Amino acid sequence: MTEQTKELAGCAAILEKHPGEGRDSLIPILQEIQENHGYLSEAAIVAVGKHLKLPTSKIYGVATFYNQFRFQPVGKYHIQVCRGTACHVLGSLSVLEHLEKEIKLKKGNTSKDGLFSIEVVACIGACGLAPVISINGEFHAKVSPERIKKIVNDLRRNHE
Ligand code: FES
Repeated sequence: MTEQTKELAGCAAILEKHPGEGRDSLIPILQEIQENHGYLSEAAIVAVGKHLKLPTSKIYGVATFYNQFRFQPVGKYHIQVCRGTACHVLGSLSVLEHLEKEIKLKKGNTSKDGLFSIEVVACIGACGLAPVISINGEFHAKVSPERIKKIVNDLRRNHE
């Protein structure tokens, strides 16, 4: 079974649980698909559109409105930058900008080599560690723009 066939089978099983049409179940469906597959592929969005009888453009419109949805698979190192209030006050914007510059990747994207993805998230419940980033679920506390370079270099070295 190819990756896409597997994905679409998973998608069909989720859609079966939501028999209605229209927008009501759109968000829960997208959440389940992302949970199951890690991101929302174009094929999945088309399948959801057919099922709910909604145009694909509408689904993209709704999905892009919510920060929680991804349209590409995450990288080997999925970096989440907290932009909650405590982290913001302590410089998370600068952390994010340094990260984007260091990896040469804009937030919300995955690098072409599949090594990194950057996601901006709301408070991840570790305000005492602000500004905090999470890499594959592991928190890095009180991250300074200077430390970003070292963190990224270490990850690159791990991969070699
Ligand atoms: S605001 Fe960043 S962890 Fe709470």
